[in-house]
Amino acid sequence: MVRTKVLRNILSIITLVLLASLSHAKSSKSSIDGLRIHVRHIDSKGNFSKMELLQRMTHRSHKRMNRLVRKTHHPPRHSTKHESSAETNVHVGSGEYVMDIAIGTPSLTFPAIIDTGSDLIWTQCKPCGRCFSQPTPIFDPSTSSTYKRLPCTAELCKALPYYKCGLNNASCQYQYVYGDGSFTHGNLSSETFTLGSKKFNNIAFGCGNLNSDGFAESSGLVGLGRSKYSLVSQLKFKAFSYCFASLDKQKQSPMLFGSLCYLNASVAKGPAQTTPLLKNPIFPFYYYLSLLGITVGTTKLDIPSSTFALNSNGTGGMLIDSGTSITYLEQTGYDAVKRHFISQMRLPVADGKDIGFDLCFASRSKPSFALPKFILHFDGADLALPENNYFIHDSDTGLFCLTVMGSSGGMSILGSMQQENFKIIYDTKKSKLSFIPTQCDQQ
Ligand SMILES: *[C@@H]1O[C@H](CO)[C@@H](O)[C@H](O)[C@H]1NC(C)=O
Ligand SMILES: *[C@@H]1O[C@H](CO)[C@@H](O)[C@H](O)[C@H]1NC(C)=O
Ligand SMILES: *[C@@H]1O[C@H](CO)[C@@H](O)[C@H](O)[C@H]1NC(C)=O
Ligand SMILES: *[C@@H]1O[C@H](CO)[C@@H](O)[C@H](O)[C@H]1NC(C)=O
Ligand SMILES: *[C@@H]1O[C@H](CO)[C@@H](O)[C@H](O)[C@H]1NC(C)=O
Repeated sequence: MVRTKVLRNILSIITLVLLASLSHAKSSKSSIDGLRIHVRHIDSKGNFSKMELLQRMTHRSHKRMNRLVRKTHHPPRHSTKHESSAETNVHVGSGEYVMDIAIGTPSLTFPAIIDTGSDLIWTQCKPCGRCFSQPTPIFDPSTSSTYKRLPCTAELCKALPYYKCGLNNASCQYQYVYGDGSFTHGNLSSETFTLGSKKFNNIAFGCGNLNSDGFAESSGLVGLGRSKYSLVSQLKFKAFSYCFASLDKQKQSPMLFGSLCYLNASVAKGPAQTTPLLKNPIFPFYYYLSLLGITVGTTKLDIPSSTFALNSNGTGGMLIDSGTSITYLEQTGYDAVKRHFISQMRLPVADGKDIGFDLCFASRSKPSFALPKFILHFDGADLALPENNYFIHDSDTGLFCLTVMGSSGGMSILGSMQQENFKIIYDTKKSKLSFIPTQCDQQ
C-alpha cells in the first residue's frame, strides 16, 4: 500500500519535471511571433452625440453595403489585366476603424483606415496632383532614404488589377477605384513601415499623387483582404486578430498579428469557436462565412439554409467585414428575424428611419427585461450575441433599435457592431475564423 503510494508520488514528480522541461523547450525556441498594435473607431475623436454617431455609422454602412452588392452583381470582365478598365475593378473603400502606421526613414506616422474588404496599402504622396486634406503631413518620398519606386516588371505590379507602365518600365502606375467613385492613383512603391515598435522593410504600397475625397479622418488605407498586397500577406504572418471595444467607451481596441493572436486565452469569457472562411470565386480577396441558420429567442427560424449560401457567380453569401458597422441579412432571412423580434418583444414598434434603422421599439430607457436571444449558426460555430451587439438604445429619441437590417441583392454582411467584444482571429493560412468572447478594452 505504502509502496504504491510512494511510487505514484515519484511518478507524478517525474511527470511534472517532464512537463516543465517540455514547456521550457517550447518557450526557449521562441515560437511566438507577432505584433500588437491598437486601432480606434473613426469617429472617436469627433465628440459626437450618440444620435449623431448612429446616423454617421448607419449612413456609412448603408453606402458600403450598397457598393458591395453593386460590385458582386457586376463582376469584373475577364479581359487582359493590363487593358481592363479601372472602373471594372472597383473596391469597397473606407471603413470604421483606424490604425497608426509609420512610413519611411525617418518615419512619419499617419492614421490609416483598416479594411478587410480591400487589399492595397496606400497613402497620399507628394507631389500632389490632387490630394484631400488629411490629419497628418503628406508623405514626401524625396525625404525618405528607404523609398523605392517599383518597376513595371515587379511581381506585385503585374498582379495589380489595373496598372500602366512608365517610361522604360521604370514605374508601375496603379489606379484603384472604390465603389462610390473615390480613387487613388500613383506609383506602386516600396518602403520601410513601422508598426508598434517593429520595422518591416520593402513593403509594397500605393504612393498616391491623385486622390479623391472620401477617406476622411485618415491619410490612407491599409488593406487586410486575402491577396499578395495586403498588410498581413506582406508581413508574412499566418493570422491576425482584432477585438473591437464597445463604442460607448471610446476605448482603443487591440489588434494582433502572428501567433500572438492565440495567446491570452485566460482572459476569454468563453470558449473559442471556429468556422471555415469561404472564398468567393469572383472576389477572392473577401472573407466569407457560411451562415446556415438563425435563432431568435427560443425559435430556430424556419428558413432554408440556401438563403445565405454563396453562389458560384459571386452573389449571395455572408461576408465578414471590419468596415461595415451594422449587420445586413438577405431580405427573406431578415424578414423572418424581424417578424420574430416583433412578436417576442413586449414593446410598441416605432419609426427609426431618422437614425437609419429599420426595426425600432419605443422605450424611454433601456428595457430591463431579458431580450430574445439572437444566435447566428455558422458551419461548426454558434455566435450567440450579447444584447448590446444587436440592440442599441438612444435616449435622445427614446428608440431601441435592432442593429441588423435587410440587404438588397441577396448578400449578407456581418458588421463590426456585431463583432464587438469578441476577439476575431483570421487564420489566413488555414482559412479559418475563430471568435472568442472577450472584454476587448481589458485585453
Ligand atoms: C463635446 O460636445 C458637447 C455637446 O455638444 C460640448 O458641450 C462639449 O464642450 C464638447 N467637448 C469638446 C471637448 O469639444
Ligand atoms: C447568380 O446565381 C444565383 C443562383 O444560381 C441566381 O439566382 C442569380 O440570378 C445569379 N445572379 C446574377 C447576377 O447572375
Ligand atoms: C517592359 O516590360 C515588358 C513586360 O515585362 C517587356 O515586354 C518590355 O520589353 C519592357 N519594355 C522595356 C522598354 O523595357
Ligand atoms: C510617379 O512618380 C513620378 C516621379 O516622381 C511623378 O512625377 C508622378 O507624378 C508619379 N505619379 C504618377 C501617377 O505617375
Ligand atoms: C494579454 O492581456 C494582458 C492584460 O490582461 C495584456 O497586458 C497583454 O498585452 C495581452 N497580451 C496579448 C498578446 O494580447
